[in-house]
Amino acid sequence: MELKLNELSDKNNLNSHHGEHIILRLTYVSRYNTENSNIEVARILEQAQRNNERNGITGALVINENYFLQVIEGARPVINNLLKKLIEDKRHFSLQIIECREIEERYWNKWSMKYLTANDQNKEYVMKYSASNEFNPYLMSTSQITMFIDKLSKLQERQEKRESKMKKS
Ligand SMILES: Cc1cc2nc3c(=O)[nH]c(=O)nc-3n(C[C@H](O)[C@H](O)[C@H](O)COP(=O)(O)O)c2cc1C
Repeated sequence: MELKLNELSDKNNLNSHHGEHIILRLTYVSRYNTENSNIEVARILEQAQRNNERNGITGALVINENYFLQVIEGARPVINNLLKKLIEDKRHFSLQIIECREIEERYWNKWSMKYLTANDQNKEYVMKYSASNEFNPYLMSTSQITMFIDKLSKLQERQEKRESKMKKS
C-alpha cells in the first residue's frame, strides 16, 4: 500500500511538472478542405468525440461549407498535443489560433465535442456576429467568435427542446 501511495505521489509530481492541473481553452479557425465528403466530416467528429473522452477534452466544433471553428478545453499538455495533430491534419488548412487562455472552469463540460452547424437556418445569427456580408470567421474578432459559438449552441438547444416537445405531443 505504501509503495502505491508513493507511486501516486510521484505521478502527481510528474503531472504537475507537465502542467496537467492547468486547464486551457483554445479556439481556432481553419479552412474546410472541399475534398472532404460528408462521410469524412462524420468521421472527424466521431474521432474527436472518441479521443476527447479518453483524453479529458471538452469542446465544440462549428462546421459550415467553408470553415471549421473549434473550441477545445483540457489539460495544457493534452491541448498542446492535439494542436500539433490538428496542424498536421490534411483535412483542413490555414489553421489560425483565435484565442488560447487558462480557465478556471470548463464551459463545454457536458460535451466531448459538441457539433454545431452554421447554415441558412441560423443565418440571422451568422450575419449578426460577422464583420462582413458573408460569414468569414477570419475577419471576426475573438469576442465576436466567442459570442457566435455561444449563440449557435443556445439556438441549437432551443431547437432540440422544441423538437422533443413536438415529438411528445
Ligand atoms: C476540424 C478538425 C477537428 C478535429 N478535432 C479533433 C478533436 O477534437 N480531438 C481529436 O482527438 N482529434 C481531432 N481531430 C483529428 C486530429 O487532427 C487527428 O487526426 C487525431 O487526433 C489523431 O488521432 P489518433 O492519434 O488517435 O490517430 C480533428 C480534425 C479536424 C480536421
